[in-house]
Amino acid sequence: MKRTLGFFGAGKMAEGIVQAVAAAGAFAMKDVVMAENFPPRAKEMAKLYGVKTTPEAVAVVKEAPVIFLAVRPQDVAALAAQVKPLLTAKTLLVSIVAGKSLATLRRMFGAKVRLVRVMPNLALRAKEGMCAICPARNAKKSDVKLVSDILGAAGQTAVLQEKHFDAVTALSGSGPAFFAYMEEAMAEGGVKLGLKPAVARQLAEQTMLGTAAYLRQSGADLGAFIAGVATKGGTTAAGMDVMRASDFKDVVAATLEAAAARSAELGK
Ligand SMILES: NC(=O)c1ccc[n+]([C@@H]2O[C@H](COP(=O)([O-])OP(=O)(O)OC[C@H]3O[C@@H](n4cnc5c(N)ncnc54)[C@H](OP(=O)(O)O)[C@@H]3O)[C@@H](O)[C@H]2O)c1
Repeated sequence: MKRTLGFFGAGKMAEGIVQAVAAAGAFAMKDVVMAENFPPRAKEMAKLYGVKTTPEAVAVVKEAPVIFLAVRPQDVAALAAQVKPLLTAKTLLVSIVAGKSLATLRRMFGAKVRLVRVMPNLALRAKEGMCAICPARNAKKSDVKLVSDILGAAGQTAVLQEKHFDAVTALSGSGPAFFAYMEEAMAEGGVKLGLKPAVARQLAEQTMLGTAAYLRQSGADLGAFIAGVATKGGTTAAGMDVMRASDFKDVVAATLEAAAARSAELGK
């Protein structure tokens, strides 16, 4: 049976999911239909991936039983007003919109449509995404499996209760910017020590990537790992002494708290 996968919005995140769909072989690209407001972007996506595009969100509902909602939060209400009359229990709507709860989505898109809420991050563009998944009560087990399989091709997935979504939004949703800021700080520190900016960035980035890869591979306890690298009297220990004496961890905690609070605010 021919299956069609739909998208509302063909922006950055939708593109990452399309790449994952292609990698997973879950849907043929000719069976992907994307509603996109901005004609040059629609043209670009059609050219890059061979997907079908339309300016009409309603056309996607008519064709696709599974649809990713991938427009910006402020565009959801106008879109919902257009498509709500057509949505039934036959449609699975997978929302990646930050801050919009299942209850809010249900109010906007109607009581019948099957809903799954996802909090992805931008790293899915590099097939190293982290996606939290929460099904609504009326979603089927097979819906969760389908969403997990598609997004699993673009990194890792975790099924979590919705009460954790503000924390997830702060940690993994916004996290790429926070880690990039850390990389920037490391690279700027390297420049102060005399390295060229491009070299400093390369060293910082590869060290961040390599550390994460090693920690995942070894499953090492973080404290034991740090203690192992920071041998007494050595260079790492000298640096760690400064980090530990600072309010670094408090700053990181406050950063996540601010992001989570903003997520809660946007969800109201
Ligand atoms: N970026 C991230 O790191 C990240 C992380 C987690 C979650 N998210 C969520 O992912 C969603 C998408 O983010 P994004 O960064 O991919 O946004 P984006 O690049 O701005 O893409 C959204 C696209 O949807 C189009 N659009 C808006 N309303 C439409 C409608 N009614 N019909 C058809 N197309 C429509 C927009 O076109 P116009 O620009 O012409 O309006 C735009 O091209 C957001 O809700 C965000 O909260 C993003």
